[in-house]
This record gives sequence, C-alpha cells and structure tokens, in this order.
Amino acid sequence: MAIKKILVTGANGQLGWELSQLTAIYPAFEFIFLDRIGMDLSQPATFEKIINDILPDIIINTAAYTAVDKAETEKELSHTVNAIAVGALARISKQKGIRFITYSTDYVFSGVSSTPFLPDTLLQPINSYGSSKAEGEKIALAENAASIIIRTSWVFSSHGNNFVKTMIRLMKEREQLKIVGDQHGRPTYARDLAMATIKIIEALNTGKNIQGVYHYANTGATTWYQFAAKIKALAGLSCELIAITTAEFPTPAARPGYSVLDTQKIENELSITIPNWENSLEQCIQKLS
Ligand SMILES: NC(=O)c1ccc[n+]([C@@H]2O[C@H](COP(=O)([O-])OP(=O)(O)OC[C@H]3O[C@@H](n4cnc5c(N)ncnc54)[C@H](OP(=O)(O)O)[C@@H]3O)[C@@H](O)[C@H]2O)c1
Repeated sequence: MAIKKILVTGANGQLGWELSQLTAIYPAFEFIFLDRIGMDLSQPATFEKIINDILPDIIINTAAYTAVDKAETEKELSHTVNAIAVGALARISKQKGIRFITYSTDYVFSGVSSTPFLPDTLLQPINSYGSSKAEGEKIALAENAASIIIRTSWVFSSHGNNFVKTMIRLMKEREQLKIVGDQHGRPTYARDLAMATIKIIEALNTGKNIQGVYHYANTGATTWYQFAAKIKALAGLSCELIAITTAEFPTPAARPGYSVLDTQKIENELSITIPNWENSLEQCIQKLS
C-alpha cells in the first residue's frame, strides 16, 4: 500500500514546522499536523482514538521532551513523552498497519569515542534525557520491529528555540560570550532532516525495505565554539567569543564530549548526499534575516 496520508506530531517544534514548510513541494501527500493540543504525548491513553479518527498511512513523531537540563528533575514526564508514548505509537502503528518514524538523539551515546558512532553502537546515555530517548528506541523496536528511528544531533532551524537563535540574540546583547569548545558533534538543519524524512517515505513507496535505526546529521563535525564562531561570521556580529571547557560551564545534565554520528547508512540506503553544516547554517541565517 502506498503511503499518502501522513500524520505529523509536534507540529510546532523545529522539525515539525520544517515538515509543514515542505507540503507545497509534495502535493501527492496529505499531511495532518498535530500540535501538543491535538496529540499530547504525556497522555498515551488518548492516542488510539486520535489515530482512528485520522487513519494515516504513516506517523512521523517529531514531538519530544527536549529540555535536556530540565529532564534531570522531570524524569517521569520526560520518560512518559520520550519512551512510553513512543512505545504506544509504535504498538498502535503495528496493530493498524501504519508505518512509524520517530527521532532520537546523539545523547544516547557515552560521549567517549574518537570515531563517529554507528547506528548499532551500544547505548550508554549519560543524562536523563538521553536515557529517556534510549528507552523510547528500545520500546519502539520491541513493539514494532518495522519502526524507523532516526537519530540526529545539534538541531537548528529558523523556527523555534535553538543554539543558532540563542547565539544571535546573546551576541547582539553582549560584548563577550564564553562558549564550550571541547564538545564535538554534527549540527543538523531541521529543514535538511525534514527533506530526508520525505525521501524515506518516497523510498518506502518504491518498495524499499527501510526499518530500524538510522543516523542523520549535516556533514562536518565541529564544536559549540566553532559553531558559534561561524554563526557570528555569517550574521555579521562583532561579539568577542572565548572558548571554555565543559568543566568551566557546569550544567544540570552531563553532556557527551564526543557525539559525532556516522551517517553512511542513510546516505547509502537513500542514495542521498547530505549537505555540509556550514552551507545549511548559511541558508538558515539568510532566512532569519
Ligand atoms: N533539538 C535538538 O537539538 C535535537 C537533538 C537531537 C535529537 N533531537 C530529536 O529530534 C526530534 C525533533 O526535535 P526538535 O528539535 O524539532 O524539537 P523541538 O523544537 O524542541 O520541538 C519539540 C516539540 O515537541 C512538542 N512537545 C513537547 N512535549 C510534548 C507533549 N507532551 N505532547 C505533545 N508535544 C510535545 C513541543 O511542543 P510545544 O511547541 O507545545 O512546546 C515541540 O513542538 C525530537 O525527537 C528530539 O528529541 C533534537
């Protein structure tokens, strides 16, 4: 059965919003976007009725509890939204013959490596958010082996809350900013991830067997400091940036020192070339201005 009707949760998040910006390019698909009011992921008992009323061919779950530091104190809520709800969506999808795509994070990994993490690397989260997402992955696959889980990292967009927008605001307000320079990862433009998600659906429609865990992030690894320096250059700002260590910037949730994702699997299976993060950042900043 070809996928036509697409239910997207988290309509107001970065990724949900970027997907909503693509609908005009893909008129063959019927998209239904639900925000927190339309589908509250803290209320899994309500899912069945909502899904029955819509009867989509695929569910794209972009909604998540993404407040990394707050998750240390809101463990129960983050676990419900990122694990229990994901499991419920996977189970209902399997029962009704609906395909299921959900997203996870580079924070499921230990942070201890010098080579990019492969999709089948052992999960060893070092904070509560990472644990809730790792749990969500496991439950999704246990409930529905055909689930598609896309791990991503350092997501930014012209919409919503993210590092790029925070940096531009702070660099306008302050003369000097200290940025962590010893955490390594791959920034991801939510628009590029949204396009890759549509490519997955198109591939499914051609009969390609896609299931399990994938990694998607823009190419080129960097640090938060270098990311900020590029934002500064592209936005034409003059704030002085100082690189500091993780130890000099304590946060409630521990951050992995190295969380670079290896994206070869998705590149090969979808035959896509992933854009470089600096080029995608330039596009994002052009939109912001
Ligand atoms: N952001 C990142 O840097 C990052 C990094 C790695 C992985 N990821 C993963 O990538 C996916 C997309 O992330 P994103 O960047 O688009 O996140 P985002 O911008 O933070 O958006 C998350 C969305 O989830 C919604 N949400 C939160 N709790 C909810 C609930 N109880 N019920 C329904 N909706 C709820 C939020 O609703 P409101 O708008 O009402 O608050 C928001 O629209 C997520 O799975 C995330 O874990 C993100």
